[in-house]
Amino acid sequence: MSVKSELLKLLEANRDKDLSGEQIAKSLNVTRAAVWKAVQALQSDGYEIDAKNKLGYRLSGKSDRLSAEGIGLYLEKKDTKVIVLPEVDSTNNELKRIAMSAPDDEGASGGIVVLSEHQTSGKGRRGRGFYSPEGSGIYMSILFRPDEERASDVVLVTTQAAVAVAHAVSLVCKKETKIKWVNDVYSDDKKICGILTEAVSDFESGGIELVIVGIGINVRRPADIPDDIKDIMGFIYDENEDENVSRNEIAATVINELQKYYDDLPDRSFIKEYKTRSNVIGKRIRFGTPGSIPGASGDDWREGIAEDIDDSGGLIVRLEDGSVEVLRTGEISLRVGE
Ligand code: BTN
Repeated sequence: MSVKSELLKLLEANRDKDLSGEQIAKSLNVTRAAVWKAVQALQSDGYEIDAKNKLGYRLSGKSDRLSAEGIGLYLEKKDTKVIVLPEVDSTNNELKRIAMSAPDDEGASGGIVVLSEHQTSGKGRRGRGFYSPEGSGIYMSILFRPDEERASDVVLVTTQAAVAVAHAVSLVCKKETKIKWVNDVYSDDKKICGILTEAVSDFESGGIELVIVGIGINVRRPADIPDDIKDIMGFIYDENEDENVSRNEIAATVINELQKYYDDLPDRSFIKEYKTRSNVIGKRIRFGTPGSIPGASGDDWREGIAEDIDDSGGLIVRLEDGSVEVLRTGEISLRVGE
């Protein structure tokens, strides 16, 4: 590990303390000149470091950059490989590139994670884009290689990811979170997180070779938001909130939760929390062909009451005529005012 990386780890672990140059030099076993050089290198990477002559160094309270060192501090599985890039087209694309050239046994159970401060072509569901401005969100992708035991249940990994995010945000940020079926996470009635899961199948066996779970969390409101999404985008922290939570801690907690749920996939322990956090059960909903416009001529949108969620994550809907339908995929809309 480089001195710069060791120093970042030390500063992240001591956010509330000033560390003198001497203390740092001693603990990293390097000279004070090497410490100063590493401080400058971190500053030129964009880290705000308060450097006071007498007291020493500390990361500024405002400094909130994603880093493998910062995330690593909070990870439960310390052998998780975390890659943080300043910019990338899409973390899902990057992880796919990495996974395809990695040995088959690497990162099997959420062991490789790619994050970026900014995505130039962030992908949303159904061919939509995902707005990913610099420094205000968490854009990350986690790799799974389903074994035989998990192969048939692997579609549920998206559901698990929604529960992991909802749980992590309420734990770390102390915010109430809800899940809108299938897998959007809401806070204060606005969507704060979307999930896009992509799979690569094994041509020979016809089975799923790898699964990439892409998670986009809007943490703080950026300065510019395109007009068409301004009113629908939600943030964990909206303007003017006095908070000191690091995106590294949120990201690591999501990774920890998701790895745990994935290990327990066959026993479906996450379904209970998925149901408890649902903002849909008991509500009147509309459902139909995704992408089509409800109300347009010939549309197939229907209404019903969302009664429950089954053990496979299906939404049980009672229709007007009393019949019951179980939705497995697709999108629903909540009737306004209900
Ligand atoms: C949606 O709500 O439509 C899903 C959005 C998923 C966005 C995340 S951000 C990290 C990962 N990389 C991508 O290109 N997309 C997912």
